[in-house]
Amino acid sequence: MLATLPLASFDPHLGLAVLRTPNSLYALRVGPDGSPRHLHWGAPLDTAVLAQLPDAVSPAASSFEADAAADELAPQTGPRFGPAGLQVRFADGTRGAQWRFTGHTVDKGELRLCLTDRRYPLRAELCYRVRPGSDVVERWVELTHTSPADGDAGPITIDRLDSASWTAPALADYRLSHLVGGWNSEFQLHRDRLPVAETVLTSRRGVTSHQASPWLAIDDGTATEEQGAVWSTALAWSGSWRITVHRDAVGRTTWTGGFGHEGLHWTLRPGQSLRTPVFAGLHTPDGFGAASRAWHSYVRDHVLPEPGREMPVVYNSWEATGFDVSHAGQVRLARIASRLGAELFVLDDGWFGERHNDRAGLGDWTPRHQAFPDGLRPLADEVHQLGMSFGLWVEPEMVNRDSELYRSHPDWVLHSPTRDATELRNQLVLNFARPDVETWARQTLDRVVRDYRVSWLKWDANRAFTEAGWDGHHDPDRLWIDHTRAVYRIMDRLRADHPGLRIEACAGGGGRVDLGILARTDQAWTSDNTDPVDRIGIQYGFSQLHPARTMAAWVTDSPNTATGRSTPLRFRFHVAMAGALGLGGDLTAWSDEELREATELVAQYKRIRPLVQHGRQHRLEGTGGVMAVHYAAEDGGEHAVLAWRPTTRFGHQPAPLRLPALDTSGCYLDVDHDRRHSGAALVHRGIDLRLPPGDYASRLIRLRRVAP
Ligand code: DGJ
Repeated sequence: MLATLPLASFDPHLGLAVLRTPNSLYALRVGPDGSPRHLHWGAPLDTAVLAQLPDAVSPAASSFEADAAADELAPQTGPRFGPAGLQVRFADGTRGAQWRFTGHTVDKGELRLCLTDRRYPLRAELCYRVRPGSDVVERWVELTHTSPADGDAGPITIDRLDSASWTAPALADYRLSHLVGGWNSEFQLHRDRLPVAETVLTSRRGVTSHQASPWLAIDDGTATEEQGAVWSTALAWSGSWRITVHRDAVGRTTWTGGFGHEGLHWTLRPGQSLRTPVFAGLHTPDGFGAASRAWHSYVRDHVLPEPGREMPVVYNSWEATGFDVSHAGQVRLARIASRLGAELFVLDDGWFGERHNDRAGLGDWTPRHQAFPDGLRPLADEVHQLGMSFGLWVEPEMVNRDSELYRSHPDWVLHSPTRDATELRNQLVLNFARPDVETWARQTLDRVVRDYRVSWLKWDANRAFTEAGWDGHHDPDRLWIDHTRAVYRIMDRLRADHPGLRIEACAGGGGRVDLGILARTDQAWTSDNTDPVDRIGIQYGFSQLHPARTMAAWVTDSPNTATGRSTPLRFRFHVAMAGALGLGGDLTAWSDEELREATELVAQYKRIRPLVQHGRQHRLEGTGGVMAVHYAAEDGGEHAVLAWRPTTRFGHQPAPLRLPALDTSGCYLDVDHDRRHSGAALVHRGIDLRLPPGDYASRLIRLRRVAP
């Protein structure tokens, strides 16, 4: 019997560390200068082969060349002229670390390499973790000032502390896939040839951002959805971040990333430690589709707080009522929503304080008397009687100047006393790094959840940080880390104290979606843009890293409020059914025919929900402008295909849509039309879509594997 190889191992004689995943292997070796260097990331290799591999030295090594070795975390000393993963300054002004390798620990899938500075009281632990069944390697760093806390050693200044540096193997060329965008246009996938330069992907906004996502993929320029080697990484952090990708002129590509943007400094006092967020990496040999599926399983099994949970069909009243909320109006919507099959009713912005519009009330988390004279309990009770659970929108990190909270605590906001504080959407950011603000927020949310019988919080954040000072604090830049950590702590605590509570991450749409926030939320509001045509592109980008179960997708009114485009109800549904379906329109204005059709489509979604939310996702591109997504059950028994054709061109009939994920030896039944197809035909020839004529055509196809 073959002995199972350990997930993580370290050979002290060879200085060789190995992380094994089901389909890949990650290896590094401690260099002669005590600094761990990258060795291999790709197909599994024997340890004997790894031991013989030469160091990954730059082919052009000379006294003038940069980066003689590919560091696992470049420490800013020696002949290293690329982006440093660690930048420190000691009390005497000396910069950079020079390491001694001082030991390791291995505990199941977790490996820690301990590095101690040769001269100064600094220790770094480079940490690696692999999980059974996943190809993802998780990495982070723990940095410690090792002088006794009560001693008189000076502080160490940290100018940069990345979670990890990654190295791609030598490839003929390099291409970078990354996600960019803005409000209403998040998650646009860009695939660009990587320039011979340093390319910075970053957010300086205090939140993950709409503009860039902390995810990337590298390939040699030839990978497709179905073929080709891909190296991909994702940072689990919801504040400012920076990833620098460095392609040098002689053929090496490395990237280093972590929390914080350039120009921030943190102080490590004697006895203190700083731990970075996880920067996770994944190698797959089978194209971008396989990379996404591997990420999806990892997120579902190892990131989300409740793996295996199904997301309810939500009705959210924001697009219907805006700030014009009232008990009667919400009850009217709730009654229709429950008839359509919604399982959760969420009251959005406008229910609290003096929140008649976005100029007042943020921070005052008690029901607006005019709108809810008897409080929120009667609405919660009514929603429960209708068989739905009750959810509320909150934006705890923000405050309007026109609020009781700001009048009582003007010093609680991020500000620099000598600078004007910029208002965005008429609001300021509360400094959650302050323990008193964190305590207030936790207690307030605890009360809201308890008093109004809330089982779903939509946690929003509608602006970025500006003038982010912390007057009087000895280490003011800590707020860029500690604010995010406080958000995490509060979410974790709320979940622990209220076991039924679910949280939806939101930041003006998809401004804070990353693996850090998803570790304590159940899904993310993808974008304020609910136009189905735009959503196809947004959802395509979102799916590169995130599983469909986390992708909140509502059907809203037509014409769409963001784009003004009119689309048929069925098309809107079919696009939204590719994620966690929700309804967000003004249901009181829908015709009887629309309500009937919507009821049927919600029921249809519930039938395919286990596949969409827990199955394997295959992105497909047809011809004639067709885009599609195929969800397959893990055991290959059940399948759902959603196909969309936003626009049609005369004479361009889409060819049959190939379904390459099916088994060529299988036989499949189209359950809704009682037609049988051979797997070989569906894989090689494709399925006839029979799309209705005209623009905004769409179809849901359900297939079941049957005996031939
Ligand atoms: C931004 C969110 O993305 C919207 O869905 C809505 O909740 C508004 N904020 C409310 O102000």
